[in-house]
Amino acid sequence: TPVPVPTETLLGFAAVAKTMADTVTVPAGYTASVIYALGDPLKAGTPAYKNDGTDTDFENRAGDHHDGMEWFGLDADGKPSTSTTTRGLLAMNHEATTDEKLSSFFVHANGGTSTLPRPAAEVDKEVALHGISVVEVKSTSGKWASVPGSSFNFRLTALSTNIQLNGPARGNALMVTKYSTDGTKARGTLNNCGTGKTPWGTFLTGEENWAGYFTRSAADDTTRNDKSVVALKRYGRNAAAASRHGWESAGTADQYARWEISQGVGAASADYRNELNTFGYIVELDAYDKTKTARKRTALGRFAHESAAFGKPVVGQPLAVYMGDDSRGEYIYKFVSAASWAAADASPTDRVTTGDKYLDSGKLYVAKFNSDGMGQWVELSIANSAIAGYAGYTFADQADVLVNARLAADAVGATKMDRPEWCSTNVVNGEIYFTLTNNSNRAVDSASMPPDSANPRVYTDIKGSSSTQKGNPNGHILRVKEASAGSTATTFSWDVYVFGAESSAAPGTVNLSSLTGEQDFSSPDGLVFSPSTGIMWIQTDDGAYTDVTNCMMLAALPGQVGDGGKKALSYTKTDGSALNVDTYVGKAPGADKLKRFLVGAKDCEITGLCETPDGKAMFINIQHPGEGTKMADIADPAKYTSQWPSNAGYGAGKRPRSATIVITKNDGGRIGS
Ligand code: FEO
Ligand code: CA
Ligand code: CA
Ligand code: CA
Repeated sequence: TPVPVPTETLLGFAAVAKTMADTVTVPAGYTASVIYALGDPLKAGTPAYKNDGTDTDFENRAGDHHDGMEWFGLDADGKPSTSTTTRGLLAMNHEATTDEKLSSFFVHANGGTSTLPRPAAEVDKEVALHGISVVEVKSTSGKWASVPGSSFNFRLTALSTNIQLNGPARGNALMVTKYSTDGTKARGTLNNCGTGKTPWGTFLTGEENWAGYFTRSAADDTTRNDKSVVALKRYGRNAAAASRHGWESAGTADQYARWEISQGVGAASADYRNELNTFGYIVELDAYDKTKTARKRTALGRFAHESAAFGKPVVGQPLAVYMGDDSRGEYIYKFVSAASWAAADASPTDRVTTGDKYLDSGKLYVAKFNSDGMGQWVELSIANSAIAGYAGYTFADQADVLVNARLAADAVGATKMDRPEWCSTNVVNGEIYFTLTNNSNRAVDSASMPPDSANPRVYTDIKGSSSTQKGNPNGHILRVKEASAGSTATTFSWDVYVFGAESSAAPGTVNLSSLTGEQDFSSPDGLVFSPSTGIMWIQTDDGAYTDVTNCMMLAALPGQVGDGGKKALSYTKTDGSALNVDTYVGKAPGADKLKRFLVGAKDCEITGLCETPDGKAMFINIQHPGEGTKMADIADPAKYTSQWPSNAGYGAGKRPRSATIVITKNDGGRIGS
């Protein structure tokens, strides 16, 4: 249902000041309320969350580290609805847990065990805290709440079995594990970060920093003695690297053993040598129907996925899905479906098989940004001689190219970016925006990652909460305009919409977008265009400006690629030679085009955003408040760096909890007006 064009002034609110207060601050005239926090029951019979470390049964509770989130409306009969504004489902990611020295200490009574072996009871809780949750939410007399006993509610965890592998890598030898000896199934979804919503009404979740949960032995490189060692290293699993939580140490049962991926003495089907190949995907599921099997979409490539943003669907043309790989120096990708968009698929009878139609076959491209403000999408195909003949890794087939997309992108010389986090499509003009959150490895003297046109800024920030920040500590937001072919275009133009910076920083070298105190920010991460108002919401996950302010959310009304101009930057290398970089910077956002809307609780990041279709209720996530707390201080709440949301009147106990909040405007208006 089309939403009426807003008549009110957008960004009419008074900017929220930077603050380190342990609360969620919104503009005058707005209200923020907590509705769904870590541990909240999803089933009627599950006890209320005590929040003292004794709770169990996390398969039936909200997981931890709420992240990306999408809205799925329900009408009064419980049928999917794109117009209802008072009842719906929130599908969201539970990315990780707040941890120190192996233990997710806020969910264990005494902080838990920070040495190996980890107790199975602790591991069982921690595994179940990861994955996704779907929860019904409802507004009654203007007050929003989650519905704990709703039959729609469900969880997928890092151990869920109802996930299948789809696309070109399904059944490939690379996917054979002890769990699935024919390589068609995956067990669990893990470190779910950004999200997406398909034009046919399903939920997409990106698996991000999954590699760190696994370990392999010091001898494994020698035991394997094949190209899998190259792939493991490229994806961040060196031999003998410890796992994040030591889950593999909790017992010999498969649910623990699967986190230790060393090659054993038997056949590939008898050990977990390939387990890592079954993570790192965009996973699709039907939020409306928990009985449907979720799919890992291997056609979209394997990397540290963030969001998946569709270009504007055009009937009769293929769909484009834009994606980032969030690690220092990783790439930006585009998937183009083989199938052309059919209008009837906007409300299909079977959402999951519609996903099979669009997301299991197509072409995967990687981005190259040129110094003239143009760029190319380079197809990652086994038919490309640069890939087929790559000296660094021998690809067996197209499935191998997709499973090891990073290596294929290396082979074609894609542009190494400053950590691509979320991307989102401008609902006004179809341009695609990408947050590049920061990159401490970008350096003038770096052989592999010197400043380039698309990642042009390098400096050392002497501030910062923990240590000196270097490289590109504040990040930037880049945007892409496809050539006239649209979704199938292989060339594009681009510029940098805005550079994050402190307003007091040098304008010629750091504060390149002339940000003022009412709009300055650092480390953009979440990025979502509102389909209702067209506002672009920018959310931060920062460590460079946190000596001044907690993380925040800003509202932006961006222009378009090319509305600014060329900017020449020059650096001097250690050997005295000059490094000159031309970049393209959008028009500086004035006070009426970029404004701080919200500041979060202590030590949190702001992430995930969705709205009711009228734009009058906005849901966002406050992730990991209090994550700077020391495990040794677990018994003394006064030493927690945050006590949110209990200090906002929500829930028992003082341990901080990741949570979903709903934002409404007191006069009933749209959010951002
Ligand atoms: Fe989970 Fe890259 O943020
Ligand atoms: Ca993120
Ligand atoms: Ca981040
Ligand atoms: Ca995070």
